[in-house]
Amino acid sequence: MNSTPTRNLAMELVRVTEAAALSAARYMGRGDKEGADSAAVEAMRLVLNTVDMDGVIVIGEGEKDNAPWLYNGERLGNGNPPAVDIAVDPIDGTRLLADGSSNSIASVALAPRGTMYNPGPFVYMHKIAVGPAAHDAIDIDAPIGDNLNRIARALDQDVENITVAILDRARHVELIKEVRRCGARIRLLPDGDIAGALMTCMDNSGVDVLLGIGGTPEGVMAACALRCVGGNMQGKPFARTQDEENRAREMGVDFKQVLTINDLVSSEDVFFAATGITNGDLLRGVDYISHGAKTDSIVMRGLTGTVRQIKATHRLDKLDLISSVRY
Ligand code: FBP
Repeated sequence: MNSTPTRNLAMELVRVTEAAALSAARYMGRGDKEGADSAAVEAMRLVLNTVDMDGVIVIGEGEKDNAPWLYNGERLGNGNPPAVDIAVDPIDGTRLLADGSSNSIASVALAPRGTMYNPGPFVYMHKIAVGPAAHDAIDIDAPIGDNLNRIARALDQDVENITVAILDRARHVELIKEVRRCGARIRLLPDGDIAGALMTCMDNSGVDVLLGIGGTPEGVMAACALRCVGGNMQGKPFARTQDEENRAREMGVDFKQVLTINDLVSSEDVFFAATGITNGDLLRGVDYISHGAKTDSIVMRGLTGTVRQIKATHRLDKLDLISSVRY
């Protein structure tokens, strides 16, 4: 069926992540996580509100970070169609930014209303994510070794050549031992598993699979990006404490349920944008130049699979005259 090309909201979303990155980058290495987050949130919210859409935040700054803005349920945009769910992560890798370390990014995703998974108050999940070539090779219920063997076969590689990204957390000690026992290589990430998941889909990123427990909001965001580029992801809810598990069970959360990428975002009509804040594997960070700054972004659309890399030069002296947030 042929039809006229429709609006690509990702082209508007890149302005949102650029604004968040420009505001947040001021805080690089200043040790001020809260200040950085507030600046990124304010800038992101300001620009999101200019987008021609009727948006409601499903993945916000709510449960995990206790933030007052961009909270779950907040309506954004000018109220015109399309009706969309919004996922925001003004800074993925807040500590990385505060320390001046690499790989912090600003990201946002949109999908048709009612299609994004709402994690409620349960903020962690087990994750496995891969790029398009290994799309059919994952099963979160299968042993790690089986997954790694299948992924290696799909990539036409030996397991010894496969690199697994894992968040560097005490909870992953056993997982790390198991991956090593299977013979795969490991890339420990200090933070930032949205970028970690996305790296599985990018040529020359050096990462083939993401494994381990990370934020559920970040999982939904990563699922939106992976749907755009043909990658795959599965999740499973994870409770940090017995009390959290009991509460979750009372609310009907099934800890055995496998969340497929389709459960995490059930539409192909998804848009994703990310901008680098500090230099990283995926994107360059904000670079300051005379009177301005340069940003490096990636924007994607699920319906078409188009991925654009957008390098922008911003005149901060001009922006300061017209903007209510400080870039
Ligand atoms: P923030 O920038 O919001 O702190 O998230 C960073 C992050 O590393 C995510 O990428 C990841 O999903 C989550 O934290 C893991 O949570 P925790 O740091 O509690 O293990």
